Amino acid sequence: MKGIVLAGGSGTRLHPMTKTASKQLMPVYDKPLIYYPLSTLMLAGIREILLISTPEDTPRFEQLLGDGSGLGISIEYAVQPRPEGLAQAFIIGKDFIGDDGVTMVLGDNIFYGPGLSPMLQRAVARTDGGTIFGYYVHDPHRFGVVELDEDRRILSIEEKPKNPKSNFAVVGLYCYDNDVIDIAQNITPSARGELEITAVNNEYLKRGSLNIELMGRGFAWLDTGTPDSLLEAAQFIQTMQRMQNVQVGALEEIAFRQGYITESEFVSSARTMKNSNYGKYLLSIVDEL
Ligand code: G1P
Repeated sequence: MKGIVLAGGSGTRLHPMTKTASKQLMPVYDKPLIYYPLSTLMLAGIREILLISTPEDTPRFEQLLGDGSGLGISIEYAVQPRPEGLAQAFIIGKDFIGDDGVTMVLGDNIFYGPGLSPMLQRAVARTDGGTIFGYYVHDPHRFGVVELDEDRRILSIEEKPKNPKSNFAVVGLYCYDNDVIDIAQNITPSARGELEITAVNNEYLKRGSLNIELMGRGFAWLDTGTPDSLLEAAQFIQTMQRMQNVQVGALEEIAFRQGYITESEFVSSARTMKNSNYGKYLLSIVDEL
């Protein structure tokens, strides 16, 4: 299974300067926003990742994250010239995906909660069809919305409907089999001129091969598309980290715990950051071993 992080530049409700993917290079509390979605793919067990961003920002991401070898993963980069939709990522990433399945996470989505890894690994392990993730929200009209029957089977998915049929938002995390490349190449752009991820999901639904995992009450899904949700995300990370003295989205720690890097690689990477609180935290993990 391959992974894509789409750090695109589509419309946000923030100041124009932060409207582009640059937002994902800025910190949410104490680390760049992009760290959080990247950590989600790593927790899913995915080690081959393509980061897609705007022509301006792709080099900046590359400068920040390099080839991923320090984290025991491989990160490649590709450009999306214009914000023409989430589904375009599968066309841009066609060669990278090859014959594999692919999991895509949006560069401004943060996931946190108990059982996240097993849930992701379950979705990734499915070899046929697609899996979307649903999350109960109070403002579903801002998102893709999924309607479910009593047995939690998917009835419909609508992109930002005026009259949502449910409160379940489709979060920015999607697992697909290799058919997604073909599907993305055959959908037509929506009224806003984008290849919509919802059109991809609807095609899987039509084929009877779309699964859903619901993220329950203990989960946090933080979409950072509005000034308020961006601030809330920072406050949430601050609270979690201070209360339990654990880091959310600490890529080196995840790489180490997932067995992507050895203890000595972890220690030498932590030592390079030993003057920062982050580095001190990493070194404290080694002391506990
Ligand atoms: C996109 C998707 C939407 C999804 C959302 C999650 O919206 O189109 O279906 O619910 O991401 O963050 P966008 O943020 O591009 O407006």
